[in-house]
Amino acid sequence: MTETKRKDAIQGEIVHEYDGIEEADNALPNWWLGIFFATCLFAIGYWFYYHEFEVAPTPRKQLEVDLAKIQATESAAPAITDDRLVAMSEDPAVVEAGKTAYATFCLACHDAQGQGKIGPNLTDKYWIHGGAPTNLLDTVTKGVLTAGMPSWEGPLGKQGVQKVVAYVLTLRNTNVPGKAPQGDPWPP
Ligand code: HEC
Repeated sequence: MTETKRKDAIQGEIVHEYDGIEEADNALPNWWLGIFFATCLFAIGYWFYYHEFEVAPTPRKQLEVDLAKIQATESAAPAITDDRLVAMSEDPAVVEAGKTAYATFCLACHDAQGQGKIGPNLTDKYWIHGGAPTNLLDTVTKGVLTAGMPSWEGPLGKQGVQKVVAYVLTLRNTNVPGKAPQGDPWPP
């Protein structure tokens, strides 16, 4: 039972009062009710649309589908072999893209012509981690973190790494005077 305490000019009937705090009992404004019922209807519609009748995939499901597609295209791409990398190093468009990446990301440590600075000379026939195209791809992909060579798969992506390796292959055996040989001759 509520007991009417008094009528307020603005608030209307005051139904409770406690410690000087008064509570009126007015109808909610229509704009508020309108939004409230609209969101309820939206939620019901949403539920049926995505979860009951599955008219469209939920955003999460869509993401899974997209990821599966990407994976499928990646595994369908031809495997990277020494021959394929050599072929890429003979494709001017690929080499040009690799050269741009080299200038941005590698030049600081391997110098302008690959003659070496902080990193080893890439133009001689000596290689610490092997001089086969797939060896280079491996080193550039994973890096040699303990020796100061960063991993480039994250920043460049798989294809970006392949392109920069294609460019480095064009530097191989150009024998630019620079950093003293490190590693073993390649081919062994
Ligand atoms: C912060 C300096 C740094 C940067 C930047 C860097 N490297 Fe290196 N890189 C090194 C060092 C140091 C090594 C030697 C690693 C070792 O001693 O095992 C190395 C090794 C390598 C090797 C193997 C050399 C060998 O003798 O086996 C290749 C190939 C290579 N880097 C390519 C790249 C490419 C391509 C980029 C750019 C995408 C790059 N590096 C960027 C420092 C760097």
